[in-house]
Amino acid sequence: MADELFQDPRLAVLYDPLDPDRGDLDAYVRLVEEFGARQVLDLGCGTGVFALLLAERGVDVVGVDPARASLDVAGAKAGGERVRWLHGDGTDLPPLQVDLATMTANAAQQITDHGAWRATLAGVRAALRPGGRFVFETRDPSRRAWEGWNRAASHGVTEVPGVGAVENWVDLVEVDGPLVTFRWSYVFAADGQVLTSESTLRFREREEVEADLLAQGYVVDDVRDAPDRPGREFVFLARRPRA
Ligand SMILES: C[S@@+](CC[C@H](N)C(=O)[O-])C[C@H]1O[C@@H](n2cnc3c(N)ncnc32)[C@H](O)[C@@H]1O
Repeated sequence: MADELFQDPRLAVLYDPLDPDRGDLDAYVRLVEEFGARQVLDLGCGTGVFALLLAERGVDVVGVDPARASLDVAGAKAGGERVRWLHGDGTDLPPLQVDLATMTANAAQQITDHGAWRATLAGVRAALRPGGRFVFETRDPSRRAWEGWNRAASHGVTEVPGVGAVENWVDLVEVDGPLVTFRWSYVFAADGQVLTSESTLRFREREEVEADLLAQGYVVDDVRDAPDRPGREFVFLARRPRA
C-alpha cells in the first residue's frame, strides 16, 4: 500500500510542482544510454517523470506503481500514451524481458517489509532478460538524512497551477532502528483544507543490500555515488547473469 502523498489524488498532483528539480534523473538517463537499453521497467514510477523522459527518447517503457493516483497523473501528461502504465508492484509483474529495470528517487526505501523486499528483488529479476540490469538507489544510513527532516528545514509555500498556494512541511515522527517515520502536512490556501501523509522508509546498509541481491541471484557489478547527491546515496548496478 502506497502512502497518502502518492495515492491521494489531491496530493499526487503536488508531487512534481513541489519537487521540480529532477537533475537526479540525468545519471539514470546516462545509464540507459551506457547499457543501450531499449526496453525498460521503471518500478515505483510515481508520476512518471523518468518513464516519460525515456519514452521521448524512443525507449519502450513499462511504468509500475502501487499508487493509482500517481499513475493517473503520469498517464495524463504529454506523451503518456507512449508508456505502458501498470498498477501494482514488483511482486505482481506480468511476463517481461526488459534490458533494464530502475527504481529512482529512493523508491526502494518505501519497501520496508523484508519479505516484500525479497519478493520485489525476485520479481524484478524474473522480469529482466538474461544479462539485463537492475539499477536503484537508497540513502546511505550513515548520513542520517532524517536529521534534516524537520519543519524549520522544510517549510515552504508553493503556487501550484490550478490548485493555488500550498504550504507544506515535514515533521520527524520516529526513528526505530532502520525504520524512519515522518509526516508531511499540506495546507491548501484555496479552501483551508489540511491534509497529512505519514510515511516510513527503511534505511539499508550497503552490505545488506548486496547480500539481498546476491541471495536473489543477481551479480552486483558496481555501487556508485549519485552525482547530484555526492556521498549520500548508494546506487546499485545489479545484473541478472546469462546462465
Ligand atoms: C519518492 S516516489 C518516487 C517516484 C518516481 N520513481 C520518481 O522518480 O519520481 C516513491 C514511489 O514509490 C512507490 N512505491 C511505494 N511502495 C512501493 C512498492 N512496494 N513497490 C514499488 N513502488 C512503490 C510510491 O507509490 C511512489 O510512487
